[in-house]
Amino acid sequence: LTTPRPLIAGNWKMFGLEASLDEARAVAAAVSARPPAARVAICPPATLLHRMAQAMAGEAVIVGGQDCHPAEAGPHTGDISAAMLADAGARLVILGHSERRAAYQESDALVAAKVEAALAAGLEPIVCFGETCDQRDAGQAEAVVTGMARGSLPASLAGQAFAVAYEPVWAIGTGRTPTPADIEHVHQALRGVLVERFGDHGASVPILYGGSVKPDNARQILATPEVGGALVGGASLTAADFLAIIAAA
Ligand code: G3P
Repeated sequence: LTTPRPLIAGNWKMFGLEASLDEARAVAAAVSARPPAARVAICPPATLLHRMAQAMAGEAVIVGGQDCHPAEAGPHTGDISAAMLADAGARLVILGHSERRAAYQESDALVAAKVEAALAAGLEPIVCFGETCDQRDAGQAEAVVTGMARGSLPASLAGQAFAVAYEPVWAIGTGRTPTPADIEHVHQALRGVLVERFGDHGASVPILYGGSVKPDNARQILATPEVGGALVGGASLTAADFLAIIAAA
């Protein structure tokens, strides 16, 4: 089995206007000039997707969406389908982020339906799971995360390109991170679910870590066993920080 290249994906969340494309261009220029060990992706807000995809055409940076609707099209005011993301130039999509699970009560079943829609549109899903602070304090981190994985990963992912991301809710935007041992522990549990579900293919699916990944902790986190990349929020908004994390992979 070959180990896939790590994936470093930036999640810009609801940050970024036209001027922010300069940061993406700077990342693309650096990555294209000196190809890193990792695959690199940026997931901007939907309003920037098409322009960013055009700016990244021919560059080594992949562009992705941050969510999609499970239906292909229809009367869903304000929503965006996976086919629309692909049409705008996206090649991957983040699904089941804890901010969406919390703000819009996204269930595992809904996330699984979105995964199906993404696959149908030819997008590579990055499916996210993570425990809250209370759940970790109660010793439930592993059970919560593996339960979310079982519920959010449909059987149709078999043989398809996808990644998963472990994002402890309490580590997102807080500057706090689990210890490398804690990350490894959860990632190993996730690996177990992936192998149980998808056999050999599950053994090679990248498991990203997300939550306060910064230039100063990226090397240690990315060197942790079973960490196959990073999903980076705040530190992906500036080219200098994001490039430092990419270089650590
Ligand atoms: O999806 C990435 C994210 O939730 C982590 O955000 O700002 O803690 O790196 P941040």
